[in-house]
Amino acid sequence: MQVKGKCRGLYGTITIPGDKSISHRAIMIGALAEGDTVIYNFLKGQDCLSTIACFRQLGVDIEEQGEKIVVHGKGLRGLKKPENTLYVGNSGTTIRIMTGILAGQPFEAVLDGDDSIRKRPMGRVIKPLRQMGAVIQGRNGDMYAPITVRGSYLKGIEYTMPVASAQVKSSILMASLYAEGETVIYEPVKSRDHTETMLSAFGADVKVSGNRIVSRPVERLKAQTVYVVGDISSAAYFIVGALVVPDSDVLIKDVGVNPTRTGIIDALVSMGADIRLINRRTVNNEPVADIRVRASQLHGTIISGDIVPRMIDEIPVFCIAASVAQGVTTIKDASELKVKESNRIYGMAHNLRLLGVDVEETDDGMVIYGKPKGGLKASTFKSFGDHRIAMSMAIAALITRGESTIEGFDCVDISFPGFMGVLNGIRRD
Ligand code: S3P
Repeated sequence: MQVKGKCRGLYGTITIPGDKSISHRAIMIGALAEGDTVIYNFLKGQDCLSTIACFRQLGVDIEEQGEKIVVHGKGLRGLKKPENTLYVGNSGTTIRIMTGILAGQPFEAVLDGDDSIRKRPMGRVIKPLRQMGAVIQGRNGDMYAPITVRGSYLKGIEYTMPVASAQVKSSILMASLYAEGETVIYEPVKSRDHTETMLSAFGADVKVSGNRIVSRPVERLKAQTVYVVGDISSAAYFIVGALVVPDSDVLIKDVGVNPTRTGIIDALVSMGADIRLINRRTVNNEPVADIRVRASQLHGTIISGDIVPRMIDEIPVFCIAASVAQGVTTIKDASELKVKESNRIYGMAHNLRLLGVDVEETDDGMVIYGKPKGGLKASTFKSFGDHRIAMSMAIAALITRGESTIEGFDCVDISFPGFMGVLNGIRRD
């Protein structure tokens, strides 16, 4: 993909596609509910389409009816044994949460994915699910996919999570629907809570107090209508774009602003960003707002601790903001970046250096020396097959002097089909 530099402003009103995390969960929980779950604004990115394909293999009828997706729920005990391996593509959310669901089914299933998925840690779901009684095996000492799950009698456990991960938490919560007694989960730092919110709406018995979650099994889940809010992780590219391209003024409508996801806004505001949340409301128990962003002079900051899980997927594009900020930005406590769709510390450091930015990689983050003399340089960047790196570099390329190339750009379809169309629709040259 070629992206022209010297953009003279991003200007206008946009909407961005539905939230990826919520779209996955609506299919999964809808499949286990009784009745038809109707989903509006479902994200038709490759990851969520992988979830649909896997549930179809489990015997769930899922229809696309124009603007909406209808999931004909099978009830908690209605899934059928798949004939083939369940292929999750690039989707960590699909494989980890489905492992929890399959732990409670009376049949054997195998989950596998692409090369990136096969490198990502799966021991983090296998360990707690085994403690619950599941029979699970993973490749290479139960660390990696493919994963074989054979459903069995599950019992509730008390589990303190070693890393903040919504996928692991959700996997355990899904298994808890099939477990005898109470399941108690303690999170070291609060991660996105869409599973807890949606399960409760569908009639599950899930209680949250601070970082402690208690789940008890119920007889049935009941189908719901789900309006998927706009994905703040996708909005983040336009938030940062509008901040760094001079004279920009962008309004992004209908974005989910769940506090477990808004770390990117807090981090940018702490750097001097002009970001306003207006028209706040609630949709399906999820907070929503329109976000107005105007070009701003940013200064360096430190990102560490509790804010990290609240902005984990936005750190690649945050690095672009840090690259033009005055002074030094330090990112700490973010070693999880190394086990995402790619090693994002390595990948972003590589690309920032091509932009002419001085950057140090550390074990749990990086140090970025912003505002290189002479501005950012156009170059040929690599996506590393990682959708978030690809889109982050498209934003950086807007403010370079020449034209840049981003290799392997197709992966943006994982989370944001049509990204370039939205960007080109608001750019001024
Ligand atoms: C997600 C959780 C996060 C996030 C991922 C989506 C989810 O992963 O990075 O993109 O939908 O639960 P971890 O659970 O590995 O932190």
